[in-house]
Amino acid sequence: MLKDNHGRRINYLRLAVTDRCNLRCFYCMPEEGLNWLSREELLTYEEMLRTCALLVKMGIEKIRITGGEPFVRKDLMKFLSALSKISGLNELTITTNGVLTAPLVPGLKKLGIKSVNLSLDTLDANRFFTITHRDEFNKVMETLDQLLKYDIEVKINAVVMDGKNTQDIIPMVEMTKDMPVSVRFIEEMPFNGEGHIYSGLKWDYIRILDEIKTKYPDVRKLQDEQYSTSYNYNIPGHKGDIGVIAAYSRTFCGTCNRIRITPEGVLKTCLYDGGVMNIKDLIRLGFSDDELKGKLQEAMNNRAKDGWEAERNRAFNDPAHESMATIGG
Ligand code: GTP
Ligand code: 5AD
Ligand code: SF4
Repeated sequence: MLKDNHGRRINYLRLAVTDRCNLRCFYCMPEEGLNWLSREELLTYEEMLRTCALLVKMGIEKIRITGGEPFVRKDLMKFLSALSKISGLNELTITTNGVLTAPLVPGLKKLGIKSVNLSLDTLDANRFFTITHRDEFNKVMETLDQLLKYDIEVKINAVVMDGKNTQDIIPMVEMTKDMPVSVRFIEEMPFNGEGHIYSGLKWDYIRILDEIKTKYPDVRKLQDEQYSTSYNYNIPGHKGDIGVIAAYSRTFCGTCNRIRITPEGVLKTCLYDGGVMNIKDLIRLGFSDDELKGKLQEAMNNRAKDGWEAERNRAFNDPAHESMATIGG
């Protein structure tokens, strides 16, 4: 079992396979995109497989593939197929924006993927364009249909943005009436790649919940799974559930079970830290599995106790310059 210096069990790896994306959500990156990593800067699939196999041996049970948009990276399905064969890995899952995903859903099902998290901030095609700067709303909705058709569990991730999509909160709750999905409203975090000063959080999880209660006063709390990032609720009679993720308020750090690897191989033991070591460099320096294991364990022994401490400890304390696409969310 992998444990950190605060006694927290670490069993979940979020692996970002690319920083590139086919959308331009303004809260994540500027319209011109980022200064994309070159191929040599990225971990290769082989390097990722080796790292994942090692981490599974150490105690990782669940791997979530993120990005950027994971399906933008060439041959992702082949990589997923190889990953799915790692023995000891209980759960392989993906967070995707759904633009390229619809035709791949049967393949995901075949690989045994049971759940997919879909990023979708609005149910209105015009607002979708305003938020993402791309006209891809229909493709995302097609992905949602396909996932449901193939009986893959879907969590919809909606970042709540003041003045941009708060009018979508109630319609997205309404979606859960007939659709067996979990709609999760996320507090916006200061990772937009542009370095502008974060003006402060206007919609925290409490305000989001209050908004839901204006239309649904009978919203009821569900029992959350261990390690859940979301506080989960349900409207009586609805097929699906809703959740709020206090990603900025960081209320769930005490049970944080996850680590991250960025597309360039940087290990982050917290979303808010600046990275604690570069796995790619160690691999390319010829580190053996045992040496890598030692380094990984050392990183676990020095984990910040929460996202606030991780942010304070950053050498370069400017998360706003970072993009969610270079972290993997
Ligand atoms: P499940 O595995 O389905 O529970 O999903 P998840 O919440 O771990 O992953 P997902 O990729 O769907 O992320 C949803 C939102 O939660 C994103 O905005 C993430 O950045 C945020 N999130 C996930 N993990 C953490 C975390 O450790 N800390 C913070 N602050 N936010 C997180
Ligand atoms: N704040 C909160 N969530 C974000 N995501 C991307 N950027 C941000 C941000 N600045 C979400 C995406 C995706 C998940 C991995 O992270 O919507 O669903
Ligand atoms: Fe792409 Fe996700 Fe960033 Fe949107 S939030 S631009 S979908 S990486």
